[in-house]
Amino acid sequence: MQYKTLALAATLASGAFAAPWNYNADDSVKVLLSKDGAYPSTTTFSERQLPNQRPPHGGNGPFSKIEIDLGKDVKNTALRCQALGQDQKPLVATRGENVDITFSDADKGAWTFRNPSYVDVSKVVCDPSFVAISKQETKIHITLVENGESAIGEDVDDATVEAKESRALNGGTKFQTINISLGEIVAIENAALRCAAVDMHGNKFTAKRGENIDVTFSDADKGEWTFIDPNTKQPMPAKVNKLVCDPTFKSLNA
Ligand SMILES: *[C@@H]1O[C@H](CO)[C@@H](O)[C@H](O)[C@H]1NC(C)=O
Repeated sequence: MQYKTLALAATLASGAFAAPWNYNADDSVKVLLSKDGAYPSTTTFSERQLPNQRPPHGGNGPFSKIEIDLGKDVKNTALRCQALGQDQKPLVATRGENVDITFSDADKGAWTFRNPSYVDVSKVVCDPSFVAISKQETKIHITLVENGESAIGEDVDDATVEAKESRALNGGTKFQTINISLGEIVAIENAALRCAAVDMHGNKFTAKRGENIDVTFSDADKGEWTFIDPNTKQPMPAKVNKLVCDPTFKSLNA
């Protein structure tokens, strides 16, 4: 008996007993792209056929808003879709406090693209494997290493629009290296974003990575920068008081 019960449960789970598809059911997943809400372009998928992707219906934009509208019979109400720009990178949009590269319906209306706020969309993609992004991906993760072993990690808030700084790193610790790691959202919006390490008076420390000597530091997937004496160019640990990330910082070598 036990065996039969299990077998039945398994068959039910696999959907073999599911009723034939009801063609009146609305399992549509609509992606509405609009310029400020007017005349949205509607690209429609069916939940049964996901994951799926296609160019936006009727043209590439420019658009400022994206809204996901799930039909009443869509089973996965957490379903998310995304929009790819002309460069095939996911576009970032916000809704209230949320910043993401995949977007839900949740009956909360449209998401608004940012940086830039009007974008051309090459493709919309809906995929059951999409999940909301972690808040960590909107931050810049900075690691300061003291002596090759002990390190401190500090996060600076998203500085793609305006400068942001860390808390004061009180204490007299001197650091040898600094490593900048942009969260995914920051990297999509401004892969060239730079940060500085400043002393108590706001003066920037100098550091070196390969041949580059600078007072503001990028991620660029090239690893850590070593603090140096700006005159002798020899390694010189820095008593860093604060970290500042600023979209206006430029490389001295640019
Ligand atoms: C340094 O930053 C890179 C990203 O460019 C990251 O992959 C790496 O894990 C970071 N290293 C440390 C020690 O934090």
